[in-house]
Amino acid sequence: MWNGVAGAWDAQADFVERHMATATTALLEAAGIGVGSEVLEVACGPGGAGIAAAGRAGDTGRVVLADVAPGMVEVAARRSADLPHVSTSVCDQAAIDAPDASFDAVICRHGLMFAAEPEAAVREASRVLRPGGRYAALTWDSRTANPWLGLLLDAVGAQFGTTFPPPGVPGPFSLDDPARLADALRGGGLEDVRVDRMSTPMSAPSLQGWWDRVQQLAGPLALVLPSLEPEVRNAIHDRALEYGRPVARAIENGVELPGSVLIGSGRRP
Ligand SMILES: C[S@@+](CC[C@H](N)C(=O)[O-])C[C@H]1O[C@@H](n2cnc3c(N)ncnc32)[C@H](O)[C@@H]1O
Repeated sequence: MWNGVAGAWDAQADFVERHMATATTALLEAAGIGVGSEVLEVACGPGGAGIAAAGRAGDTGRVVLADVAPGMVEVAARRSADLPHVSTSVCDQAAIDAPDASFDAVICRHGLMFAAEPEAAVREASRVLRPGGRYAALTWDSRTANPWLGLLLDAVGAQFGTTFPPPGVPGPFSLDDPARLADALRGGGLEDVRVDRMSTPMSAPSLQGWWDRVQQLAGPLALVLPSLEPEVRNAIHDRALEYGRPVARAIENGVELPGSVLIGSGRRP
């Protein structure tokens, strides 16, 4: 699924970085990244959070950008090509291709909720952390706090009279509860666990611009929409815009829809 949207994530990478800039700074702080840090980013996609970490770590540090989708790793490699202290790796966050105790920090931005077993993924991250090293994961807050994505998924669900993505399948909102996120971090072996919430509204040139952007980025949607008949796709589009209209706030260059993330972190004993 994610290989199929690597091109769209590449094209939208600068927008994603602007959207996530403040939250990414908070993620790097929570992971304790500073000059000389050795950092692994798992589920890196185009690698924006890891590239930001590389800026902090400087050339006495080291950053590895890892993702399970080779298409995403290719994008991350290209985007970090001029940074000699950054390398890439294709691996699942639950089976990291690195020795025990080889990093000071592991970060994951919008990826932990896609793990089949988040607790196992945290335990694996903890394995590659040095004692005292820090893990930090950023996940989406609740669906209602993120109408910029929730409403598009609602529009697909309403079209088929179901919930989308189906319940029980890892999806963007699988770790939207601070208590559940904290449990996954503690269950994965971390100490001093904390979870913070941060507002991340999404802007777009218009409601149509919002639809164009998000339907390309959202993995499950990008997979489903192209396979539908044009009239079904149009019905979903019209419904999404109808849902979005009362929620979108007019701003100087377009519209803004509310968004919110959780930042969970902890320390390897
Ligand atoms: C929503 S994107 C986020 C990308 C990037 N971290 C960012 O914030 O720009 C989710 C990413 O998680 C990756 N992913 C999903 N499941 C994974 C897994 N089990 N192990 C590693 N990466 C995974 C996908 O390939 C995709 O690149």
